[in-house]
Amino acid sequence: MKVLITGSGGREHAIAWKVAQSKKVDKLYCAPGNAGIAQIAECADIGVMDFDKLTAFAREKEIDLTIIGPDDPLAAGAVDAFEAAGLKVFGPRKNAAVLEGSKAFSKDLMKKYNIPTASYETFDSPEAALSYLETAPMPIVLKADGLALGKGVLICKTRQEAREGVKTLMMDKQFGSAGDRIVVEEFMTGREVSVLSFVDGKTIRIMTSAQDHKRAGDGDTGLNTGGMGTFSPSPFYTSEVDEFCRKHIFEPTVAAMSAEGREFKGIIFFGLMLTDKGPRVLEYNARFGDPETQVVLPRMKNDIVDVFEACIDGTLDKVELDFEDNAAVCVVLASRGYPEHYEKGYPIYGLENFKDKDGYYVFHAGSRLDGNGEIVTNGGRVLGVTALGTDLREARKNAYEAAEWVRFDNKYMRHDIGKAIDEA
Ligand code: AMP
Ligand code: GLY
Repeated sequence: MKVLITGSGGREHAIAWKVAQSKKVDKLYCAPGNAGIAQIAECADIGVMDFDKLTAFAREKEIDLTIIGPDDPLAAGAVDAFEAAGLKVFGPRKNAAVLEGSKAFSKDLMKKYNIPTASYETFDSPEAALSYLETAPMPIVLKADGLALGKGVLICKTRQEAREGVKTLMMDKQFGSAGDRIVVEEFMTGREVSVLSFVDGKTIRIMTSAQDHKRAGDGDTGLNTGGMGTFSPSPFYTSEVDEFCRKHIFEPTVAAMSAEGREFKGIIFFGLMLTDKGPRVLEYNARFGDPETQVVLPRMKNDIVDVFEACIDGTLDKVELDFEDNAAVCVVLASRGYPEHYEKGYPIYGLENFKDKDGYYVFHAGSRLDGNGEIVTNGGRVLGVTALGTDLREARKNAYEAAEWVRFDNKYMRHDIGKAIDEA
């Protein structure tokens, strides 16, 4: 089989690495990819939103299966475009990707189908939002309705912060049209857990749990980022939590999407908060998580192409997912200054240390080959270093050891990824 993956981040590198191990795959392409992906796939310089070029490329290369990595193309109808071109593709269609693409849609869905989540109100005008906020309890959470690179969520401690938040999202339009409508949500407290799942429209198969670290600095300080590191499994995701979530969140979400005529095929990523009143949905994503994928897929035993095909064919009920009874930790190596201002173009040294080392992986997020054939930094998040261990503590020790094998100027990482496991 020939397989194409679209995207260029650490998530796509991890997916490509897993697909490359499939017995069914003899040729792997990625568009546009990065310097790490280029070591295992042939990269084509086509952007993820250029559906005409991507489908023409897939036809020309006789691609048997395409996997869409990021959220933006899914929300814009990448899967519909591939299907219209008669190509086999993994991911939700546009009418189902709205589960992530619109917070107002997902909140209304949860309310209608009694799926536990924070209470909320939706506003289309800043005046109405501001008037509501004058009497609403603080702290409160403001969310841009549309996609905003995971950054359109503002946690406001005071009424003044909330007023400023409305200005940022709806009047100054910091996230463009994503802020035309906002969701104002009850502030919840608890531990966060990410759960990834495969869905074929009817059946849902849960992968394993993970936890992300979204803030830039140690101790969860600093700005929100795309994710500074992850661990899997989460010790807080107990079998009781799992049982509750399957019954009240996972199965009902898939059934609700079908009932709405928006059959969901692809990945649903459940962002959960374990509150003292039980698990609640923080958000849905309609794709693999980044950097959750970098700790989940190295633990997965199945041939992932079998699972992708079962989702497309509607035969996921015949598939059992199988995960190693071990643990993984991913530490993101970023450019100092991320997520604000940072420099790029610095040579990356030490990548060869990962060759032929079982249980250690380096997934590239922002890297490229420069004119001299040297791999250089090319983004805020540069690499994700993942290590396995028999348990979380060993995996964390291994990941931090491996994080020292790589050097580049302005290298920055958090030093407390997985610290939460000490509280379990
Ligand atoms: P989201 O993109 O909706 O997952 O929000 C990003 C982050 O904001 C989450 O990972 C949480 O840390 C935080 N967050 C979102 N909604 C709430 C809420 N209702 N209460 C408390 N924190 C929240
Ligand atoms: N790690 C969070 C996300 O992928 O949205």
